[in-house]
Amino acid sequence: MVNARPRVLSGIQPTSGSFHLGNYLGAVRQWVGLQETHDTFYCVVDQHALTVPKDPAELRSNTRFAAAQLLAAGVDPERATLFVQSQVAEHAQLAWIVECLTGFGEAARMTQFKDKSAKQGADSTSVGLFTYPMLMVADILLYEADEVPVGEDQRQHLELSRNLAERFNHRYGPTFVIPEPHILKETGRIYDLQEPTVKMSKSASSPKGIVELLDEPKATAKKIKSAVTDTDTVVRFDADKKPGVSNLLTIHSTLSGTPIPQLEEHFAGKGYGALKTELAEIVTEWVTPFRSRTQEYLDDPAELDALLARGADKARVVAADTLARVYEKVGFLTAR
Ligand code: TRP
Repeated sequence: MVNARPRVLSGIQPTSGSFHLGNYLGAVRQWVGLQETHDTFYCVVDQHALTVPKDPAELRSNTRFAAAQLLAAGVDPERATLFVQSQVAEHAQLAWIVECLTGFGEAARMTQFKDKSAKQGADSTSVGLFTYPMLMVADILLYEADEVPVGEDQRQHLELSRNLAERFNHRYGPTFVIPEPHILKETGRIYDLQEPTVKMSKSASSPKGIVELLDEPKATAKKIKSAVTDTDTVVRFDADKKPGVSNLLTIHSTLSGTPIPQLEEHFAGKGYGALKTELAEIVTEWVTPFRSRTQEYLDDPAELDALLARGADKARVVAADTLARVYEKVGFLTAR
């Protein structure tokens, strides 16, 4: 079966209440754009979030927050299939088969696992964290995704997906589409405001460096105004020598749509204060309606849950078809 439009699948973890600007500019915004040209499947990966201990009420709330923010950002449930991973049982079912296809050493070489488990120590590292990449491979292969938009940090997991899809096809005959990584653009890379050489992320050293989308806009403006720059005064893009200013220019350019050279001209002779003030305004203008749209979805959890259940129903049709073919290929008896 050939899809008219290339298929895209991506996932985002419900790790905390608010998305930050790095999530939005780095990933979510591009997900929204892909709806125009692709058949899109977007998944809130709550099963992945469970690889580290989570309070149940918090996980449930974070899952709704993630979905509400995706919708507020412009994911359109009429065009995209938006769903929650745990509501489509086929993910866990295919993950088992993917795990049986993966070498232990191969899984042990995943750098994200090595880093995280080294930080947490063996005793507080779950087996789920070890098998995390195989669940991600299952997410991707179930939907026969042609392209998988992810950040650079997920490249190795994508490589694993391709290897395992090829291995399965080789062993059992053509079954899976080999997914292409769609590594999100460098311009979508947003850095910490306080430590502009490290990516903006929840694990950053200080909350002052992260723009949380659901924060009070005033607090956000304050964070932008106290962003680290350098001792020079010239507003110029130079990621190596001026990482702080370059990061602010990237955020401005991505939100305002103004090319960076034009911004450099606009701020010539004006200094960093002017850049920060204007950027704070642009960000505030963007987050204000975003926050109220998110709140509207959160105010009606029953409606939100129903919307997600419809998404899961749509996803399950595709996932069940793939899984049935896989079960047949590996030699399981048909249940019917
Ligand atoms: N591991 C991804 C991340 O942390 C999230 C993810 C889970 C994902 N399943 C996926 C991304 C499938 C793309 C496709 O960013």
